[in-house]
Amino acid sequence: MTRRLIKSGFSRCFKVLDFLIKPSNMKFFIDTANLRDIEEAKELGILDGVTTNPSLMAKEGVCGIANIERHYRIIAEMVEGDISAEVISTDFKGMVEEGKRLADLAPNIVVKVPMIKDGVKALSYFANIGIRTNCTLVFSSAQAILAAKAGATYVSPFIGRIDDTNWDGMDLIAEMSAIYNIQGFESQILAASIRSSKHIVDAALAGANVVTCPLNAIYGMLNHPLTNIGLAKFLEDYHKLNGLATASSIIGTAQV
Ligand code: E4P
Repeated sequence: MTRRLIKSGFSRCFKVLDFLIKPSNMKFFIDTANLRDIEEAKELGILDGVTTNPSLMAKEGVCGIANIERHYRIIAEMVEGDISAEVISTDFKGMVEEGKRLADLAPNIVVKVPMIKDGVKALSYFANIGIRTNCTLVFSSAQAILAAKAGATYVSPFIGRIDDTNWDGMDLIAEMSAIYNIQGFESQILAASIRSSKHIVDAALAGANVVTCPLNAIYGMLNHPLTNIGLAKFLEDYHKLNGLATASSIIGTAQV
């Protein structure tokens, strides 16, 4: 009896330790301002947040401060996790005013600030007053160190855009991950400008805390020809004995 109690006590301690030691797993954000895509990703049950930027808002035709703020509020109500809303100002005073206004829209709004001189000032200011931030347009480890030092909650390296210039975006994530670990920086690495499911896998391996991707990159993760072939065969064998569907309709059903 005593031995069992000791054993279960140990096992509980190990579970708590395990929980404390294990890093939390990579979060999935969707990179869009499109409400249908957000809803679809949410239905998969894997959505942890949303990132937007002025180009994505423009793509949805959302314009004028009132409409933009209304759109952010809708997204913030749809998704429980963090929603990045980007400032348009490029001077410190403007970014602070805009950022405070955005942060007031909903408790899960994170203010997105560009990696420029006044942006770094704004990141420090927001960190000191408890407003969470996402430092955007990060393309080098030097920028990533500045953002983390200024207290950014998230730091967003743009993987796809780095790849476009013939450099390897994943090297930046790996370098940031090593530096943040060595130095104990608490900012989370948010892999942005993701173009494919391969980018998502590589970002996970390189140590990203969050990956933000368009819906098609998330769906790309589902695809493997052997899954489709295997499922079609299972269904075909089932239906051979049980009747019902034809082979072609089975293969159609099995396509993901
Ligand atoms: C997200 O925060 C970024 O704004 C976004 O991922 C940029 O992606 P793009 O390079 O595909 O425009």
